[in-house]
Amino acid sequence: MKPARVAIATAIGLLSVALSTALPAAPAGASAPLREHAAAKGKFIGTALATGPLASESAYRTIAATEFDQVTAENAMKWDATQPSQGQFTFSGADQIVAFAAQNNQQVHGHTLVWHSQTPGWVQNLSAAQLRTAMQNHISTVVGRYADNPVVRSWDVVNEAFEENGSYRNSFWYQKLGEGYIADAFRFARAADPDAKLCINDYNVEGINAKSTAMYNLVRTLRQQGVPIDCVGFQAHLAIQYGFPGDVQQNMQRFADLGVDVRLTEIDVRMQMPRDATKDATQATYYRNLVNACLAVTRCVGMTIWGFTDKHSWVPDTFQGQGAALIYDENYGKKPSYNAVHDALAGGTSNDTQKPTRPGKPAVSDVTGSSARVTWTASTDNVGVTGYDVYSGTTKLAGATTNAVTLTGLSPNTSYTVHVVARDAAGNTSDPSDTTSFTTTGTPAGDCTATYRLVNSWPGGFQAEVSVTSTRAITGWTVGWTFPGDQKITQLWNGTHTQTGATVSVKNASWNGRPPATFGFTASGAGATPSGVTCTAQ
Ligand code: G3I
Repeated sequence: MKPARVAIATAIGLLSVALSTALPAAPAGASAPLREHAAAKGKFIGTALATGPLASESAYRTIAATEFDQVTAENAMKWDATQPSQGQFTFSGADQIVAFAAQNNQQVHGHTLVWHSQTPGWVQNLSAAQLRTAMQNHISTVVGRYADNPVVRSWDVVNEAFEENGSYRNSFWYQKLGEGYIADAFRFARAADPDAKLCINDYNVEGINAKSTAMYNLVRTLRQQGVPIDCVGFQAHLAIQYGFPGDVQQNMQRFADLGVDVRLTEIDVRMQMPRDATKDATQATYYRNLVNACLAVTRCVGMTIWGFTDKHSWVPDTFQGQGAALIYDENYGKKPSYNAVHDALAGGTSNDTQKPTRPGKPAVSDVTGSSARVTWTASTDNVGVTGYDVYSGTTKLAGATTNAVTLTGLSPNTSYTVHVVARDAAGNTSDPSDTTSFTTTGTPAGDCTATYRLVNSWPGGFQAEVSVTSTRAITGWTVGWTFPGDQKITQLWNGTHTQTGATVSVKNASWNGRPPATFGFTASGAGATPSGVTCTAQ
């Protein structure tokens, strides 16, 4: 039972009402996070979470908390994680996920109880009677642990029970227990938590096909028999090279008409690597179509993306040469597919499938060591262009709401080949513009500048002082120069130095990384003022 759920849900509801009253409703294309738009549509938007990056990467935690209001443990609640040896339960990873969700007002979908994969050998070696008992014990212990926890709302009770042709998967579960293991599992789960929503989940069942029809017939039969099944999960592991499945909305609707909730549970859309702008645009349409299908089915309660950053995805480990399946790149930059999900959630079901016209070839001006101004001829759209993205290859450098942007944070003395993609509110993206190349100057603008001053000299030695300034807040600096002769530093203060031959490098001390700063030194040799003193900011 989850006695606290209603009270907490009500409190959260009041909080979100208060928040949405305080903040104006974000228009489509605005930068409100996904979860705000999804909540406004009465749906959840979720992500799978991996415990490793959740513990070690703040960028991962921030995006997971900010953008999503539902989480699924990618691995931490599976049998091999929760009961690796018989009777030895471990919940450290599962508890980590649940605690994170509670902190961030997120609901948890438990994944998964009965599956042929990631189930330890000791389970698979049991006799039929022992296996059924072990299943009951596992379900009652794992589900029971969170039965009173208000954030854990639902479970994948049975995962991937069918073959592609619609026959039952010939797993050890089926071989030993027959098809009855499915009904048993749902009954055990209901006994362990009468309030949790209990789902069956599978892949390649998004469209209408033999496999999804077999699952449909099973759900109908289970419902007729009074077996406690509440929801159906469609994983949606898609690939742009295989095409978008037909009839996703109709397929979800036919299940919904049986009286169950439906959800998209493990969305990702992989591609053959390397990425390019055209593949990204195709991927974005897949994401948009999935979101729109869920929005169009009243009993579709929400959708979960199987991770969010290409830095942490199961795809490259499983499909050689494929990847880039998620909505953020490896550096946590938003991809066109993020915009597609965002704009579909913000705009609702859209019939607009027309992409904006191609932007003009970019013109580049005002190039410095770290910035450049880029302008282009604007696109047009049947509904309206909502923005542009400027890319260098597959790396997004900047977004813009007009046909001009100043790129910042560029590397000095580096060649960039940029193109522009336009987007509209429905998530349609234009064909990429022609490319333009430019090279940044050697001096990073606004980084730091070092000024060298010969203070004093005497026969065989001299003293000099170097002052460092910066036009922006930096936290460290390195000054370098090359002496003209055999000068050798004998003592240096307010910094640490290395000298190799005539080449000197001086790093800030722990207390003067923020300019203005000054360091000084004495050296042997003839008093000298080197040319080309450089300063690099950290
Ligand atoms: O934790 C071990 C680590 O100690 C070891 O060094 C490493 C060496 O391979 O393996 C690590 O375990 C891996 C685990 O992910 C955690 O990263 C397993 O090998 C690897 O097989 C496992 O893959 C998971 C896969 O399920 C297993 O079937 C993926 O992360 C996970 O995304 C994937 O998720 C499934 C859903 O549960 C069900 N639907 C399909 C979906 C994609 O396959």
